[in-house]
Amino acid sequence: MSIAAALAGAAHVLALDLDPLALTATALNAGLNGVTVGAPPAGRLATAVADVVAMAQAADGDPLVARLLAADVVLAGDLFFERSLAAATLTVLRRAVAAGAVVLAGDPGRTYLPPDTFTPVAAFDVPVAAALEDAPVRRTRVLTLPPTG
Ligand SMILES: C[S@@+](CC[C@H](N)C(=O)[O-])C[C@H]1O[C@@H](n2cnc3c(N)ncnc32)[C@H](O)[C@@H]1O
Repeated sequence: MSIAAALAGAAHVLALDLDPLALTATALNAGLNGVTVGAPPAGRLATAVADVVAMAQAADGDPLVARLLAADVVLAGDLFFERSLAAATLTVLRRAVAAGAVVLAGDPGRTYLPPDTFTPVAAFDVPVAAALEDAPVRRTRVLTLPPTG
């Protein structure tokens, strides 16, 4: 999602994940897509290790939370697959909405997507690894979190 955001015209994107390997893959993939990696103004996309569960509990002055609260757009990609992670993600996204951000989440039908909370805005049939998922294609929705969500 971070690379797509940069390709869609975001001035700068900060990609967060708990797993440094995921961020290495993001940086490599960004380069392959012509997105410069690094801090602004030279880079369009930077990465940082972050724990959404810790961010949900951290104060507004925490450096990553401060970045979250200053963002125009906050994207969450497939984070509703585990109960505690889903709850923390919703807390973080609600903080971003309250601070004025547009929040979009991508979800391929995970169990812990909070019901009656998000508003669907688009849906796509996404090819997935059948060895990891239970089907070769998953209907994946893009949802927004309304200010009252
Ligand atoms: C299903 S993958 C989605 C990856 C990517 N966001 C996307 O949309 O393709 C879930 C990701 O969540 C990350 N993750 C798991 N627990 C996390 C946490 N507590 N904080 C931040 N990221 C976490 C994993 O490392 C993994 O990269």
